[in-house]
Amino acid sequence: MDTIYPKVGVPFGCYLTWFGFIMRRILVTSALPYANGQIHLGHLVETIQTDIWVRFQKLQGHECRYFCADDTHGTPVMIRARQEGITPEALVERMHAEHLHDFTGFYIAFDNYYTTNSPENRLLSEEVYLNNRQAGNIRVSTVRQAYCERDQMFLPDRFIRGTCPTCGAEDQYGDACEICSGSHAPLDLKHPRCALCGDAPVERDSEHFFFRLTAFEPFLKAWTRSGALQPEMANKLDEWFKAGLQDWDISRDGPYFGFEIPDAPGKYFYVWLDAPIGYMASCWEWCKRHGRDFDAIWRRDDLMEVYHFIGKDILYFHTLFWPATLHGAGFRTPTAVYVHGFLTVNGQKMSKSRGTFITARHYLEHLDPEYLRYYYAAKLTARVDDLDLNLDDFILRVNSDLVGKVINIASRCAGFIQKRFAGRLTDTCPDDGGLHDQLVAAGVEIAQLYEAREFSKAMRAIMNLADLANRYVETKAPWNLAKDPERQQELHDTCTVALNLFRILMIYLQPVLPVTAEKSREFLQLPPWSWEARHIPFAPGHAIHPFTHMMARVDPKKVETLIQAVTPPASSAPAAPVVKKKAAPAETPLPVPAPPLEEATLEIETFAQMDLRVAKILTASPVEGADKLLQLTLDLGELGTKTVFAGIRAAYQPDTLPGRMTVMIANLKPRKMRFGLSEGMVLAAGPGGDQLFLLSPDSGASPGMRIR
Ligand code: 2FM
Ligand code: ZN
Repeated sequence: MDTIYPKVGVPFGCYLTWFGFIMRRILVTSALPYANGQIHLGHLVETIQTDIWVRFQKLQGHECRYFCADDTHGTPVMIRARQEGITPEALVERMHAEHLHDFTGFYIAFDNYYTTNSPENRLLSEEVYLNNRQAGNIRVSTVRQAYCERDQMFLPDRFIRGTCPTCGAEDQYGDACEICSGSHAPLDLKHPRCALCGDAPVERDSEHFFFRLTAFEPFLKAWTRSGALQPEMANKLDEWFKAGLQDWDISRDGPYFGFEIPDAPGKYFYVWLDAPIGYMASCWEWCKRHGRDFDAIWRRDDLMEVYHFIGKDILYFHTLFWPATLHGAGFRTPTAVYVHGFLTVNGQKMSKSRGTFITARHYLEHLDPEYLRYYYAAKLTARVDDLDLNLDDFILRVNSDLVGKVINIASRCAGFIQKRFAGRLTDTCPDDGGLHDQLVAAGVEIAQLYEAREFSKAMRAIMNLADLANRYVETKAPWNLAKDPERQQELHDTCTVALNLFRILMIYLQPVLPVTAEKSREFLQLPPWSWEARHIPFAPGHAIHPFTHMMARVDPKKVETLIQAVTPPASSAPAAPVVKKKAAPAETPLPVPAPPLEEATLEIETFAQMDLRVAKILTASPVEGADKLLQLTLDLGELGTKTVFAGIRAAYQPDTLPGRMTVMIANLKPRKMRFGLSEGMVLAAGPGGDQLFLLSPDSGASPGMRIR
């Protein structure tokens, strides 16, 4: 037996089986996706990485449980639900179903995919908070904050925009400047305005609850050095320690979609307080259904190993706030946090306008999920480097490795077994010159690479073995043996050996290609595989099924179709915002009769007050009782979605609009109309009726871009 020892030491809860195998108990999580967005290929780097690792551990015979959930709370979900005219609960329920459907489409095998908006999470969040309060780890301070009187809410950082106090760049968020990269407090922004309605916010005082992170510095330093982090991440933490930790504001004022803080009416836990507790809540709900002891897992640290897989952008939350709040509340802390880099597509950040912002849904409409699982595996390492999905390389790599090297071994030999030998392999183990033993022995190193999350090296090692197997088949050339009646035994031996090698390769690939591995196992008529099953060759005269299609080559045309499906249509007209002198009255939205040009002069300051944005039309539908109008849902990127009633029905068939880009005034005062709330105007040129032409930006512009 090859035993893989955990790097961090064997917890006492593990037990030794009679043959010396140490079964580990492992709890694994990946970051909880926000409930206000779709799953895209960036999320999948992490869930595929985690799923491969979990499947590998299970294949080793360990108990490994994979918990995840939707991250449901916070302002963006609340605002989006409001825009859609539904409750936040209804929104998070819909998104949960969509997310789970997408992940399942990529064969992500969670033990539980739960939600942070759950009774378990509420109870645990309260307990984490109350235990910390009891231990003196919470303090209360008054904070001065931006408040929008129109929206009647305090404005979180991302909902306030204005001019950067450092470099003067316009239209920056309340927390950081995208131009000079400086960070600032929302109240330091010049000319601040509410990102929802465009009004200037006022300042108001509010009591906030702070977690005393500063008190945990010695504990966190020790935890960081316990082997819980990759070296480059431990260095990053050292930088943060040197810069000095700060207490953490864990409360938000209502209205807020989240859990109300005990003994503090109108105050809510900040979403990042309860999000990671969602890992525990997901585990707890699973424990209840499976008769398992939740307390034994989370209140002592010797039953299970606990690993969190995350992206580098949420390091601070997982390596400072999370272990400190757990420790302060008397819960166990994670064994390790494994951090990965970001996804780029064709060398660049994913971008809607370049057609590289690919959602899970879009991908699955066109391509096999196992292609992506393999491609990511072939590129993933234990380091924090970014991963590039190069689409040409993707086609080449999957076709040459999986179809050309691995599946090919079986497809070239299986037919002869059926046609010449009644579907049966040889009665005695044929001499293969030590190949079988070589492939089996390589399993020790490949397992170590999987364990260490060096998937790229593991895939390379497996493909090197596939090369050996192919060389064997080519040297023996069964297609020539088949022509020679004298050499039928050699043909039978060759095909048996080749299928045996194929069997071992598919065991090694099972964590990455669960479906193809399962098809292979069924084709070979074998019982469920474990890593150790690689040692066991076929029984004498073992019968196999006829070879069936296992994996098609990647069709470059399908990749092209996918890219086209996610690329917004190129614009037909250059961006040229038309400025209208007065806003349309409530019941007559666009088009407003344009004033004669000479009347339309206006001060540059007035123009500057207008927030003109690139918008993508998501939906367009006729409005009952208003035959001139179309109801449009517009995607404004970071600003979320807006609904606009536009008088363009005579000029446009509704079904031709979704997907196209246009330009809108995003900070018009929302107008209540008979049919609903109109939150802005789209810009069109022309006299009216069917002679109206929506403005479009040049290709390259993305939703939410400001027009200057
Ligand atoms: O960054 C994000 O997408 C967060 N929703 C991740 C949360 S992970 C965990 F802490 F809940
Ligand atoms: Zn506002």
